Amino acid sequence: MQVESPKVESTNVETLRWREGRLELIDQRRLPLEFDYVACADAVQTAAAIRDMVVRGAPAIGCTAAYGVAVEAQRHATSSRAQFDAALEASFKVLAASRPTAVNLFWAIARMREFHAQMRSVSPQAEAEALLALAKQMHADDIEINRTMGRHGAALIADGARIMTHCNAGALATAGHGTALGVIRSARDAGKRVSVIANETRPYLQGARLTAWEMVQEKIPVTLATDNMAGHLMQQGRVDVVVVGADRIAANGDTANKIGTYTVAVLAERHRIPFYIAAPLSTIDLAIADGSGIPIEERDAAEVTGFRGVRWAPEGVNVVNPAFDVTPAALITGLITEKGVIERPDTAKIRALFGS
Ligand code: MRU
Repeated sequence: MQVESPKVESTNVETLRWREGRLELIDQRRLPLEFDYVACADAVQTAAAIRDMVVRGAPAIGCTAAYGVAVEAQRHATSSRAQFDAALEASFKVLAASRPTAVNLFWAIARMREFHAQMRSVSPQAEAEALLALAKQMHADDIEINRTMGRHGAALIADGARIMTHCNAGALATAGHGTALGVIRSARDAGKRVSVIANETRPYLQGARLTAWEMVQEKIPVTLATDNMAGHLMQQGRVDVVVVGADRIAANGDTANKIGTYTVAVLAERHRIPFYIAAPLSTIDLAIADGSGIPIEERDAAEVTGFRGVRWAPEGVNVVNPAFDVTPAALITGLITEKGVIERPDTAKIRALFGS
């Protein structure tokens, strides 16, 4: 269901918002050509919005899932305790099945589930209010975390830096400010004259459609390049630093991010260009020892054979479409988190971030 289209103010773009008892999401499938919100009135609609890429980006998916549980709780606030519990269980399940790679989704569902487990003695009505308050808190926390991470990361960015990024790790991929683009925003806010090279990010074009849009709105100079130009631009000395986001970081620092990130990391190493990952602690999965255990989503072949109904590949061709790849920790110059920057991440340094 489409709702009204407000005038866009990029610095306070609300990727997701709670309005009149519903979750509203910017429809990122239509950007940058159209700017509209889509409303989700239950967990099934919320899961569909995640699966269909209305909303995408690891922290944004996590916050959306938290609201998906909250919206379902609101729907059943006047039900019996047994019906309320069954509805919540179903919401955890449907949301967890929406996309497999971004661990923030499972992190957010686990937080809502743990909270639910502690609330059995209160009325469904009271619990529904408390779950909504928790979702709103996670939403606000994510923005605050991104701002903190941005300040840590901005210290690594030189005045005049030409920053390459891949995919969209901006306000649109989070509750606001962004992770990789948050670092860039914070560097600009600190008075540094930065410019961005946005890799197009085939096949779903998050770089061309979303990162380019965010940077244009924000008036940060941005140059769009196709993915296969990255090596050439680095060889020509036109890239000073690479900053990207992450969907899941294993305990040893191996990092899953949008397909093509690994290629950029290898090229950065070849050209001795610093390569940074910016991600909150909620993107780190200590249960997975290294990148080989990270589940990689395989998406529809139609994303590769064409775009928005225009087909360019012949019928009958075989297609691969892994949505993410894994960059080994050895290629990562530093991991920028809300707790600070760790250089050359490894298992011991990552454990120390969690105080264990
Ligand atoms: O398939 P997407 O668009 O959800 O992939 C998003 C990315 O890979 C981002 O780089 C990542 O989630 C970090 S977002 C702050």
